[in-house]
Amino acid sequence: MRKLLAVLTIVCCFGVTAAFAVDGGDLYRKRCAKCHRDGSESSKAGGDVVLKGQSAQEIEMKLKGYVDGTYGGSKKKTMARLLTRLSADDIKALSGYIGAM
Ligand code: HEC
Repeated sequence: MRKLLAVLTIVCCFGVTAAFAVDGGDLYRKRCAKCHRDGSESSKAGGDVVLKGQSAQEIEMKLKGYVDGTYGGSKKKTMARLLTRLSADDIKALSGYIGAM
C-alpha cells in the first residue's frame, strides 16, 4: 500500500510539472503560424523571413532584440508588439522549437 502511494505521488508530481512547462510547438501554432506558416517558407505576412534552419540561439537573440529594440527591419513593430504578450520562458520555448525545425 505504501509503495502504491509513493508511485501515485510521483505520477501526480510529474503530471503537474508537465502541465506548467511551456510547450513551444503549441505556442508557435497558436501565436506564430498565422504569419510564419510552418516556418519553412517566406510569406508576405511573415516579413519574407524563413525561420527554419536558424539555430535556437539565433532566434532567441532576434526575439529579444525585437523586445528591446536592438533588432529588426522595416516591420519590426509587428513582432515587438506580439512579443510584449510573451514571457521570457515563452521566448525560450519558442526559440527551442524553431531551432529544432
Ligand atoms: C502578424 C504576423 C506575424 C506574427 C503573428 C508573427 N510574426 Fe514573426 N515576423 C513578422 C514580420 C512582418 C517579421 C519581419 C519583421 C522585421 O521587419 O524585422 C517577422 C520576423 C520574425 C523573426 C526574425 C527572423 C529573421 O531572421 O530576421 C522571428 C525570429 C520571428 N518573426 C518569430 C516569430 C515568432 C516566434 C512568432 C510567434 C510568437 C511570430 N514571429 C509571430 C510577422 C509575424
